[in-house]
Amino acid sequence: MSTASIPSTPATPSLVVDAAASSSLWSRLSSWIADNKAVTYTVGAVVIVVTGAGAIYYINSQKGDLRRLGDLPGSETSSEKQDGSIRKKKKKRTKAGKKDEATSGQAAAAEASAPPTPTAEPELELPDVNESTIETFTAEERKMLAGKLKDAGNKSYNSKEYNDAIALYTKAILCKPDPIFYSNRAACYNAQGNWSAVIEDTTAAIALNPAYVKAINRRAHAYEQTEEYSKALLDYTASCILESFKNDNAALSVERLLKIVAETKGRKMLEGRPKRLPSPTFVTNYLQSFREKPVPEGLEDATDESSGDYYLNKGLRDIQLKTAQSYEEASQSFEKALELGVSDKYLAFAHNMRGTFKYLKGDGAEALEDITSSIDIDPTMTQSYIKRASISLENGDKEAAEEDFARAVTFSPDDPDIYYHRAQLHFISFEYTEAARDYQKSIDLDRDFIYSHIQLGVTQYKQGSIASSMATFRRCVKNFESSPDVFNYYGELLLDQTKFEEAIEKFDRAIDLEKKEKPMGMNVLPLINKALAVFQWKQNYEEAERLCQKALILDPDCDIAIATIAQLLLQQGKVEEALTYFERAADLSRTEPEIVNALSYAEATRTQLQVQELYPHLANRPMAMPRA
Ligand SMILES: *[C@@H]1O[C@H](CO)[C@@H](O)[C@H](O)[C@H]1NC(C)=O
Ligand SMILES: *[C@@H]1O[C@H](CO)[C@@H](O)[C@H](O)[C@H]1NC(C)=O
Ligand SMILES: *[C@@H]1O[C@H](CO)[C@@H](O)[C@H](O)[C@H]1NC(C)=O
Repeated sequence: MSTASIPSTPATPSLVVDAAASSSLWSRLSSWIADNKAVTYTVGAVVIVVTGAGAIYYINSQKGDLRRLGDLPGSETSSEKQDGSIRKKKKKRTKAGKKDEATSGQAAAAEASAPPTPTAEPELELPDVNESTIETFTAEERKMLAGKLKDAGNKSYNSKEYNDAIALYTKAILCKPDPIFYSNRAACYNAQGNWSAVIEDTTAAIALNPAYVKAINRRAHAYEQTEEYSKALLDYTASCILESFKNDNAALSVERLLKIVAETKGRKMLEGRPKRLPSPTFVTNYLQSFREKPVPEGLEDATDESSGDYYLNKGLRDIQLKTAQSYEEASQSFEKALELGVSDKYLAFAHNMRGTFKYLKGDGAEALEDITSSIDIDPTMTQSYIKRASISLENGDKEAAEEDFARAVTFSPDDPDIYYHRAQLHFISFEYTEAARDYQKSIDLDRDFIYSHIQLGVTQYKQGSIASSMATFRRCVKNFESSPDVFNYYGELLLDQTKFEEAIEKFDRAIDLEKKEKPMGMNVLPLINKALAVFQWKQNYEEAERLCQKALILDPDCDIAIATIAQLLLQQGKVEEALTYFERAADLSRTEPEIVNALSYAEATRTQLQVQELYPHLANRPMAMPRA
């Protein structure tokens, strides 16, 4: 399905763009992100276009999709690569992870024992070299001595007599401060696990030869051992760039450390940050993934402002406005309703709503409590099972989600919402046949819910039935001519087929309809999609950025808009600006997987900036990247 032909960007001297173009690092980063998909997923997802080769993907936490952020020339990510069952991927990952540790350990060992060819020469009498005797030798003699001492050091090293080797290298250094001698002595300290000494010696070696990759890798390894992860990441990144990404081991290390650094920083950032709602685009998408239900009977008559029932009803009205403020008010209304106490007949519903908003705020634990209370009070309310399944999925617990769907089916076998959401679970698990079956079932039970049709069309597309998919969308256009979502997702699939003009026409239509339908709380996805389309089609950065900025004016917290701008800036080599956007995306993250995702981009960018500062000459070095 990798269809999109990627416009190739002219070669630019920028490190970051070149790095991004490298086949290894970024595609690995992308597939790592793809692996997190299941975790980041939130039900309510309408989908995606997974583009063809060369795209960097960013998890759209929003709707759980993998959303294209921008295409990078030459990176070998392909939709096929992104596919495959989650379980398979997961397994592969852990295996890769383990192997990775093993190889990095081995590599370190292998490198450390990088054998000096044992010299067959007979033992030479070496004069005693120390701080005072060194003065007595001529420059010529020192040079000669240095070489002999190093050879002797190598010999001791190879017979694992590290202390002897250290003494010999120390003398060699006295004769001639050569970066190789420092690096060799560091190898001895490495074998002894003396990390601070490794760092000291490799630093001395790097000071003498800034492009000494072996010493850089050795220092990186030591930094990792001492848990100085940012420094290790910086060294491994430098090593990757110096070697034009040819060293797989270093590239894997970058990936590993990027994750560690992002996780560490992410946890710290999430700690003590007040929980808040995500952007209204997110909230609206989640809420509208459930068919609208009538307000519980009698609730609209609750006018006593000191009663919980009143606030429960108010919360429902707040939701209708679809703006950031009104969603926040809804969230507070549901809290207040339960504080004041609601009538028994609304109690399950009230817990359900408060739990829903807690879930949206990323507070999975409390949300789970509320939704479970709701189920305990009224086991027949199927929405609660579905919502609990969302939470389980976000925690990566597919089995628990499946169990809840099964329970829901036993209570309401004819509730189309259940099948729609179960289909979503199949979809993100790449089980397209099952997904298509469930979407169809949902449609059979209720033809009026637009999202089942859209999702079915996208699923058919993912199954490779492009013709059926396009037919489904044409039918949708006919039957739901005022639905912006139909045009938006239709456009995405056209974009994936590189039918740029048609795609843009659909996005424009979606934008117009959004404006008309929801002037207050417009869904900004079509604007972002249009930005991607003009970028891919004409490489029109300016227009693409302008569209994303417009999306941000309408929905300032829209993380996809922010991340898309960051990618656009990165592609233009505006690295520093890109970094501020990645950081902003991290600030807006709701959950740990989201923040880790955003921060790994930020850290990768920041690190490459630092490398650029450390190695200014590299910025002008054309880096021939292997093209996939
Ligand atoms: C031993 O000597 C060789 C040749 O001079 C050198 O390149 C190598 O790095 C040394 N090996 C070790 C482990 O010290
Ligand atoms: C250096 O070596 C000489 C000759 O072996 C010895 O006499 C002297 O004490 C040593 N000096 C130091 C500072 O170790
Ligand atoms: C590490 O090496 C340094 C420098 O030789 C030495 O002073 C220190 O005692 C060593 N530390 C350990 C733990 O062996």
